[in-house]
Amino acid sequence: MWDHVTRAKDSEKSIESTPRSTSAGGHATPSFSAFNAVIKSSFSGTSSAEVSPSKPNLEKILRQPVNFRDVVITTTQSSISGGLNSPTKSVEIDLHASTSVGNLAEVDSLGSLYSEQPQYASVQRSKMVIIMVGLPGRGKTFVCNKLKCYLNWLGHVTGHFNVGNYRRNQKLGDLTQDASFFCHTNGAGLELRQKALDSALDDMMRWLNTGSGQVAIFDATNTTASRRQLLRDKLHGRCQYLFIESICNDMETLERNYMNKLMYSPDYAGVNVEEALRDFKARIQAYEDVYEPITDRSFHYIKLIDMVTGRGYMDINRISGYIPGKLVFFLMQVCRAGLGNARKIWLTRHGESEYNVLKLIGGDSNISGEGEKYATALPKVLEARLPQGEATPLQVWTSTLKRTIQTAQHLPFAKLRWKALDEIDAGVCDGMTYEDIAEKMPEEFAARKSDKLGYRYPSGESYMDVIQRLEPVIIEIERQKDSVCIVAHQAILRVIYGYFMAVSPEEIPRLSIPLHTLIELTPMPDGQMSVQMLPVDINADPSTLLENLASNPSPLPVLAS
Ligand code: F6P
Repeated sequence: MWDHVTRAKDSEKSIESTPRSTSAGGHATPSFSAFNAVIKSSFSGTSSAEVSPSKPNLEKILRQPVNFRDVVITTTQSSISGGLNSPTKSVEIDLHASTSVGNLAEVDSLGSLYSEQPQYASVQRSKMVIIMVGLPGRGKTFVCNKLKCYLNWLGHVTGHFNVGNYRRNQKLGDLTQDASFFCHTNGAGLELRQKALDSALDDMMRWLNTGSGQVAIFDATNTTASRRQLLRDKLHGRCQYLFIESICNDMETLERNYMNKLMYSPDYAGVNVEEALRDFKARIQAYEDVYEPITDRSFHYIKLIDMVTGRGYMDINRISGYIPGKLVFFLMQVCRAGLGNARKIWLTRHGESEYNVLKLIGGDSNISGEGEKYATALPKVLEARLPQGEATPLQVWTSTLKRTIQTAQHLPFAKLRWKALDEIDAGVCDGMTYEDIAEKMPEEFAARKSDKLGYRYPSGESYMDVIQRLEPVIIEIERQKDSVCIVAHQAILRVIYGYFMAVSPEEIPRLSIPLHTLIELTPMPDGQMSVQMLPVDINADPSTLLENLASNPSPLPVLAS
């Protein structure tokens, strides 16, 4: 029965390697798991019930002895190929090893949105807590927000629990939260800080245990060994957990971080800069008095040391597994770029194409006359929006399709073509209108309507596939210190915008990304994006173009019905 075995490996678009691929019928297939192994096997028969993987079968597949109690089959899926009536079907199975709880070194069993609900294990096995460590002003919240965007985008529902917000929201009576509040000898301050910690922790555990939440990021200083031990005791045996410590000794970076803190933290709203800076430095000193960096090698941790300077390094201790490994790689890129200079990220669809006019999907048509007007207006608009003061270089990225290349043709900046930015592949539906699909392929049309995220066009792609293929682009945007203008396509920009704005994956395919509109993303110090929609009036007289732009911002992308 088991006549074909494939070990998961990194190769584009292969079912075996994708953590969230879909079958032709549009159903989500299993994700990577403990061994990073999705086993694909053809079998004869008419029902997946016939594919019951026995111990000898599994041993044959894994080429190693299997303790059956350690291996749990979580998902099976049939009908990958051959059609419903074909005697040959394929099946995919996720294997999860049940090693000791909390041991990230051996297991990575986070269920993703793209996998079916894991039924195999207790709630704990599929949940993870990331605990931040570090003095104030070390970019912890930046890291948290970036991780939240990334994990959420990969399909892991991620929550951010910021203890500072709980502290600020407490009723304090006469107590003010200036630097003295944070002194380790201030009993009242200690009590209130402990209360804020407890509330955040309780909310986090409730969120993890009762909802669909999979990863919680616990954002606090956690600078003492006793505090970390307390958290470890709370979490050990309940879920997986790891610590991320952010250390920065570079004065230039610190000064910049401090200024950002003063400008954006609610703690210093309305306080003059000098006074705020003095207080913030005194607060940091209060923490430094009791700070104990992580030294206990029995902890699972990632230390980020002076990463933003470009001369920093990471100390990675007892971290392995698919998701933790991805986090290490991601942090390596994201923390390097940090917030060095003011930069922008612009997203724009190509100018109207001949296919757009005919309401055809896909293809590789030229831009229309209206599209050319947009291409002509774009240089002026972009130049006006470039960050002033600093000479921040701009790169223009397009897909390899004519409509994006033509839209970018007048832009006087360095250009790069990415195959990964090509529009979603509509497979056999390429060149059709939505009406044609509804009429000629009603089942496909209905399947896409009911699950637009997971649905894969026959011989084409799903939004999940697009998310996967755009990961290198996202990483590259995050690595850049320059401004970037991405001229691409509707589905592609939904996915990129969805990443930066932490839109839930199910909502990504329904975001409205209008033609002839520049979406301007401005990275904020806390890792979030400020966004502005700038519709370009392509018929405006060039002299009024910029005026119209400024006076006519449009609402942010909404969900289309
Ligand atoms: O219609 C323009 C277009 O870019 C098509 O080429 C593409 O198939 C489609 O948009 C993607 O949008 P949706 O996922 O809503 O069909």
